[in-house]
Amino acid sequence: MKMEASKALFEKAKRYFPGGVNSPVRAFKSVGGTPIFFEKGKGAYVWDADGNQYIDFCCSWGPLILGHAPDAVVEAIVSTASKGSSFGAPTREENELADLILSNHKYIEKIRFVSSGTEAAMSAIRLARGVTGRNKVIKFEGCYHGHVDALLVKAGSGLATLGTSSSAGIPEAYAKETIVVPLNDIQAFDEAVEKYRGDIAVVAIEPIPANNGLLIQDGVFLKHIREVCTREGILLLFDEVISGFRVGFEGASGYYGIQPDVVAFGKIIGGGMPVGAYGSTAEVMSNVAPEGPVYQAGTLSGNPVAMAAGAAQLRALLQPGFYERLNEMTESLCSQVQAHADAKGYVFRMFHVGSIFWVSFSKEKAVRRMDEIPENSGKLFAPFHHFLLEKGVYLGPSGYEVGFVSHAHSNEDITYAARAFCEALDYTFSQNQ
Ligand SMILES: Cc1ncc(COP(=O)(O)O)c(C=O)c1O
Repeated sequence: MKMEASKALFEKAKRYFPGGVNSPVRAFKSVGGTPIFFEKGKGAYVWDADGNQYIDFCCSWGPLILGHAPDAVVEAIVSTASKGSSFGAPTREENELADLILSNHKYIEKIRFVSSGTEAAMSAIRLARGVTGRNKVIKFEGCYHGHVDALLVKAGSGLATLGTSSSAGIPEAYAKETIVVPLNDIQAFDEAVEKYRGDIAVVAIEPIPANNGLLIQDGVFLKHIREVCTREGILLLFDEVISGFRVGFEGASGYYGIQPDVVAFGKIIGGGMPVGAYGSTAEVMSNVAPEGPVYQAGTLSGNPVAMAAGAAQLRALLQPGFYERLNEMTESLCSQVQAHADAKGYVFRMFHVGSIFWVSFSKEKAVRRMDEIPENSGKLFAPFHHFLLEKGVYLGPSGYEVGFVSHAHSNEDITYAARAFCEALDYTFSQNQ
């Protein structure tokens, strides 16, 4: 496999950017080797700077549910941009995307567009604090909500303790406003609520946690936190930046049938352009400026090109059978690979929800918490990942990240990829006996 062009580009990039990248996971630190520089993508495929072709299961970390450069999205971007890319004033395109979402998503009544998932989560937290007049946030170990100060926090020692920052540059005073509890643990959650009763503004959760593996929660747990939030006057924030429009148009809210108080979106909502959003009831959203006292703004918020791209993508998701087909393809990929792993006796499991999947070097039938992820996962994922690259299959370069199947993946792509995954497992386990 040729890598000369990617290597040369990375050497140059290191002169410009910290670590040679503009977002850390792209640096291939956890799998080793040189990051691949991409040149173009179409449908299920991407091509790198050396001309290597891959079936892409990273899909830009989730946004590309239709695959790369779908005609309808490209057409929407080009035709909208040709009329002007930004006005800093309202446009028709914002209404169109909002209408499409609100009339097909029964869990929110009003929405505010921002430019990233981080901004969506950050603004949702501020809204919850503004509405409740309280400061503290409960988050769950292993959930990621973007690089928001209050949420880039890890657990202190012991259960239900105040958090400590997980990045330099975050004052401990901010981190102390956040309580970190394990996922899927009713007792730890109840303890935290009890201990900080009356101070908690919001419980923030990825209802389908997909940033440290795919830690599928028990519906009972999610329903429990819903009930407790209602009882305690705490707002429940579903961070659906990954799960939104992915496991169904109504995301995890629809999947579990749970009404959150605030929902954060990103990724798919922008059709591959930088868009995020948060939404809630009309009453809660009336607290957002200029209607209410919670300030939040953005020069490029509701950018017409991004709105048009998002609308073109979301329209396709509303076609009958769209999600069923995606789910079937993902199920097929996972079951073929799992059958091979089982036949060979490998300690390995493929988890999936809808079209999100995770390759896990675990024997457990369910992995629901961070501390249940086997310690050697990263070590085993590295050779697995590199073998797949050689076979022309691209996964995100970290064993703690999930993969995505897009509508552009054909049955043949899935069959090819399943075989490649099986061979990659044989290789990985032959190296690590
Ligand atoms: C659940 C979740 N929330 C928030 C974010 C942050 O979104 P962005 O990277 O667009 O800022 C991410 C990013 O991966 C995410 O997965």
